[in-house]
Amino acid sequence: MTEKLVYVLNGPNLNRLGKREPAIYGSQTLDDIGAMLEERGKTLGISVLLFQSNHEGDLVDWLHEAEDAGAHAVLLNAGAYTHTSVALLDAIRSITAPVIEVHLSNPHTREDFRHKSWVGMAAKGTIAGFGAQSYMLALEAAAGL
Ligand code: DQA
Repeated sequence: MTEKLVYVLNGPNLNRLGKREPAIYGSQTLDDIGAMLEERGKTLGISVLLFQSNHEGDLVDWLHEAEDAGAHAVLLNAGAYTHTSVALLDAIRSITAPVIEVHLSNPHTREDFRHKSWVGMAAKGTIAGFGAQSYMLALEAAAGL
């Protein structure tokens, strides 16, 4: 069986998971989440590629790269760029690979400025509020697409 390729893109400050506001984002690091995704990916026939950057343009480039690599889907936690980035909205619209928006926290229960999601305007769907488990649920959803 050929493995499906899923890109997992992470935006600003997510490199600090585990240390960053653990009451909101939990105690697992991004490496922990990557290891969990890789493990679950094996049973789903999915090869997971994990990326993180604090720079908006890197996320745009990786969305294009995912498309060119023939990715089956992209999981995108754009961090704060979720709420500000028209460039990410346009990048998602510029590719055909489905993008699943992921958040550890539930932005709708937080400050008003987090209620708007440019990413969500173009995403296939959104999974938010389940901590690290949000990524696992998103991988399951990707597998079923
Ligand atoms: C986040 C939610 C965003 O509002 C915030 O800016 C983040 C993390 C989440 O995973 O809960 O950086 O995307």
